[in-house]
Amino acid sequence: MEQRHAKKVAVISGAASGIGQAHAIRLASEGAAVVIADIQPGETTRQRIEATGGRAVAFRCDVADPDSVAQLGRLVRDMFGRCDILVNNAGLIPAQPFEQIRFADWRRIMAVNLDGVFLMTQCFLPDMRERGWGRIVNMASNTFGQKTNGLTHYVASKGGVIGFTRALSGEVGQYGITVNAIAPALTRTPGTEALEDRYAGMTRDELFSFVIGKQSVPRPSMPEDLAATLSFLVSDDAGFITGQTIYADGGVVRG
Ligand SMILES: NC(=O)c1ccc[n+]([C@@H]2O[C@H](COP(=O)([O-])OP(=O)(O)OC[C@H]3O[C@@H](n4cnc5c(N)ncnc54)[C@H](O)[C@@H]3O)[C@@H](O)[C@H]2O)c1
Repeated sequence: MEQRHAKKVAVISGAASGIGQAHAIRLASEGAAVVIADIQPGETTRQRIEATGGRAVAFRCDVADPDSVAQLGRLVRDMFGRCDILVNNAGLIPAQPFEQIRFADWRRIMAVNLDGVFLMTQCFLPDMRERGWGRIVNMASNTFGQKTNGLTHYVASKGGVIGFTRALSGEVGQYGITVNAIAPALTRTPGTEALEDRYAGMTRDELFSFVIGKQSVPRPSMPEDLAATLSFLVSDDAGFITGQTIYADGGVVRG
């Protein structure tokens, strides 16, 4: 692979599994030193990266906890001196009809999916500003752009992520920092396993068939599709793209 992210330090939340793991493997394969920041151990991701000669470190971090994020910031600066690329990927994917959502469920989704983006960005943005170059990519969802059932708290949190992306991009473009979001379709990951039999009465396979039927590209969305989009957005080639939400979803939502 072309080493287009050489000499860059990338912090990726939720990189122990799923889409975040694919993001970490892709950026490391193109030369970035990767920090896996996850509430779960990130050893599998780290070992996969090191097995192919890449550089990675795994730190436990709860993105919803200000103290945990501050500790991560200290560890990253001690080890690498900075963060150039921040990928706010950690997220919870619930499925509950609106009338069953308790306030505690709502708060937990907002804490991880939205507060986590705020806390991580506040932690690492100063490094980028100091160096006059930075890339922030937030994981949104194409559920924001279409009819969905049983996902009100999730879609609200992702709408917040899209608003955050647009608003912050306006403040930090002058410092060489871009802020974008990726909005995927339903993608096969550990996070979507739990949707089986809980989403609109469909099994997971029926749900995937339903979603693929809405796509222009009729195949399942894979984590690697999203990692390829990420790799472009954090490259120098994408330096004039900011404030955007890229619907990398096989053509379901056409903005
Ligand atoms: N898979 C999909 O269909 C899909 C579609 C659209 C958007 N997304 C978004 O992509 C992102 C990744 O989704 P995924 O399917 O890979 O999910 P996943 O559940 O497979 O992985 C999420 C990772 O985030 C970690 N995590 C959860 N809470 C955390 C916390 N508080 N602090 C740190 N890490 C935490 C988990 O441990 C896990 O490793 C999410 O933001 C999700 O909303 C996923």
